[in-house]
Amino acid sequence: MAPSLVFLLVLLSCSATATLVACSSSNEAEAGLRMKLAHVDDKGGYTTEERVLRAVAVSRQQQQQRLMAGAEDDVSAQVHRATRQYIASYLIGSPPQRTEALIDTGSDLIWTQCATTCLPKSCAKQGLPYYNLSQSSTFVPVPCADKAGFCAANGVHLCGLDGSCTFIASYGAGRVIGSLGTESFAFESGTTSLAFGCVSLTRITSGALNDASGLIGLGRGRLSLVSQIGATRFSYCLTPYFHSSGASSHLFVGASASLGGGGASMPFVKSPKDYPYSTFYYLPLEGITVGKTRLPAVNSTTFQLRQLFKGYWAGGVIIDTGSPLTQLASHAYEALKEEVAAQLGNGSLVPAPEDSGLELCVAREGFQKVVPALVFHFGGGADMAVPAASYWAPVDKAAACMMILEGGYDSIIGNFQQQDMHLLYDLRRGRFSFQTADCTML
Ligand SMILES: *[C@@H]1O[C@H](CO)[C@@H](O)[C@H](O)[C@H]1NC(C)=O
Ligand SMILES: *[C@@H]1O[C@H](CO)[C@@H](O)[C@H](O)[C@H]1NC(C)=O
Ligand SMILES: *[C@@H]1O[C@H](CO)[C@@H](O)[C@H](O)[C@H]1NC(C)=O
Repeated sequence: MAPSLVFLLVLLSCSATATLVACSSSNEAEAGLRMKLAHVDDKGGYTTEERVLRAVAVSRQQQQQRLMAGAEDDVSAQVHRATRQYIASYLIGSPPQRTEALIDTGSDLIWTQCATTCLPKSCAKQGLPYYNLSQSSTFVPVPCADKAGFCAANGVHLCGLDGSCTFIASYGAGRVIGSLGTESFAFESGTTSLAFGCVSLTRITSGALNDASGLIGLGRGRLSLVSQIGATRFSYCLTPYFHSSGASSHLFVGASASLGGGGASMPFVKSPKDYPYSTFYYLPLEGITVGKTRLPAVNSTTFQLRQLFKGYWAGGVIIDTGSPLTQLASHAYEALKEEVAAQLGNGSLVPAPEDSGLELCVAREGFQKVVPALVFHFGGGADMAVPAASYWAPVDKAAACMMILEGGYDSIIGNFQQQDMHLLYDLRRGRFSFQTADCTML
């Protein structure tokens, strides 16, 4: 008797809050969610130099995809990131099945590849078995005309013959197709029920999933993890790339997200009117200082998000966990490169490894003492001092190079620059804060 009564109560409380996440207001979700994050290269046994070159390669691939997307005039692909870099593992269903997701501040939907619908070769290879909804008592399909509006919230959706909600989610690296459902999710700490995509067809660049089972979107859209649990903030802290102890990075969503006082803070850039992509988090970058020199050619106009022609937006500065290297709009990149090179002088510069895509390199030995100080100036007086080890890295036995790329129109604060910082996205106040931190201690 007792279990079915509890079940009935849960059903009742779900329908009472039907416009919210189905049954998510458990105490645990209110306390917030905590997730351990593994870097996609953690398991590969790579050397420091290999990891650096992999990070550069991924960033250049993203650059290429953006340029190609621009050429095809495919605006949606233009603004979506191609590759994700951090993996959270979680449990889905009852009884629980283990799943791994790339976390992504640049998209919204939560999805995982599904055993019952992935035909041979229709889905990507993943490290864990596909999630099998037939083995879970908590899976509920989202009907096409669901009251909560989950189906309609996904940009591209169709009604299946059986009344199910079929979606297509597009990324720079390709697209996935599946149907929406709700399930119970359990993270390192915190459980909740979430609408998610059960994927039956994965057509994305080989390797882009990095053996994960799917994605967790943290964007501003209705279907992101953050929006679904009604979280007003989230934070994360990424441990250093070359940390040997293997301590994990962490992501906190909801009440558990806090910098614990201090830190510098700035408003997020409000999207311009008519801007069609509400998913992204834009920061108000206004200037750059190298050594003691503030770059005269770089100001807020350099980074403005603007419409080049109807429907084609460019510019802006995105903060992103999925892009390894920081990329700066061409004009700012050139000014930075010239100033750094001038301050280093011809005596310090050494040739960059061929085909690395990097332009400024110095002798590896003691590079941290040689390279100039770098500060990013954000709106509201928030200055982000970038330590040498967060913008230069050893690429081979002889050289260390500047880990910043030219981004065309766009600028991205990449995850290499976010090492050793606790970053808080306060959605209620519309503010972004950061604080230097030992991420291994969180
Ligand atoms: C999913 O689970 C059901 C029930 O246990 C089983 O019959 C089916 O074979 C499983 N499907 C796959 C593809 O593993
Ligand atoms: C930014 O710099 C450009 C020249 O590089 C100048 O034309 C423009 O007025 C400046 N904008 C602001 C807001 O200072
Ligand atoms: C560095 O080299 C460039 C070109 O080789 C030259 O134009 C410039 O004057 C040199 N600068 C210094 C400080 O030696």
